[in-house]
Amino acid sequence: MENILTLAQCSFAYDVDGFFLSSVNMEAGLGKVHGIVGPNGSGKSTLLRLMAGILRPTEGEVSIEGSPLSAFSRRELARKAAFLPQQAAASFDLLARDVVSLGRYPHQQGLGFPGAEDEVVVERVMRETECENLADRYLSTLSGGERQRVMIASILAQEPKVLLLDEPSSSLDIHHKAHIFGLLSLLSRREMAVVLVTHDLNMAAEYCDQLFLISEGMLLHQGSPGQVMRADILSQAYGAELRVATHPLTGAPLVASPRYGE
Ligand SMILES: Nc1ncnc2c1ncn2[C@@H]1O[C@H](COP(=O)(O)OP(=O)(O)OP(=O)(O)O)[C@@H](O)[C@H]1O
Ligand SMILES: [Mg+2]
Repeated sequence: MENILTLAQCSFAYDVDGFFLSSVNMEAGLGKVHGIVGPNGSGKSTLLRLMAGILRPTEGEVSIEGSPLSAFSRRELARKAAFLPQQAAASFDLLARDVVSLGRYPHQQGLGFPGAEDEVVVERVMRETECENLADRYLSTLSGGERQRVMIASILAQEPKVLLLDEPSSSLDIHHKAHIFGLLSLLSRREMAVVLVTHDLNMAAEYCDQLFLISEGMLLHQGSPGQVMRADILSQAYGAELRVATHPLTGAPLVASPRYGE
């Protein structure tokens, strides 16, 4: 695996006495899907924002292809890494096709009018995310899952080497969830590194090559789904008893939580 994204001894604090991410070492490689999992408030989104260069570590360094993020201009960084936030704020209403086209801006010169190649990419990524039928709809009129697929198409249009996605499937139905995870896995094989945050441990087990388990601002475990998704490890991280079996159809680890009160 060729490493493209590296976090070396990264620490981060929002406030002096608040949440603290402590000394995280992580590497993401081309050709792989990496899943960041862990309880609410454990620091997953914070970690992804550090990787995207939206937050700067208070200590340590984030680098892409061996260069610290601070060495890149915004446009250069946008050609290397694309970021889908957990809650993508839409400040004004646009047609879905125009939202996806915005993803092409790091590749455009001057005033940034889309060229023929940009239009080909936009068509392709909308097809791949099954949202070509939404092209002429305003974002504000789409359902949660439809909007999420358009936002994923928009960062795919950026054609980066590193894709950073914060809960990309949280609003998706079972078919679209499998479709997007499968697509990300396929894209990673075409020389991309995918890093995603998800609460869907069973999808993560099936589609991720490597998992990072975060708890209370610390990287507790990393490894293959088989190595990380063990009942003792997950129960410790989530502070609750969790059970792990084997999925009868896929053979991947299958996690279940006991019913409330049991
Ligand atoms: N802008 C901020 N200012 C201060 N504290 C913040 C800020 N953003 C997040 N936090 C705090 O940092 C901690 C980690 O937040 P983060 O969003 O990284 O968690 P997460 O693992 O992504 O959780 P979730 O699964 O709920 O999305 C939380 O305690 C949160 O309240
Ligand atoms: Mg989050």
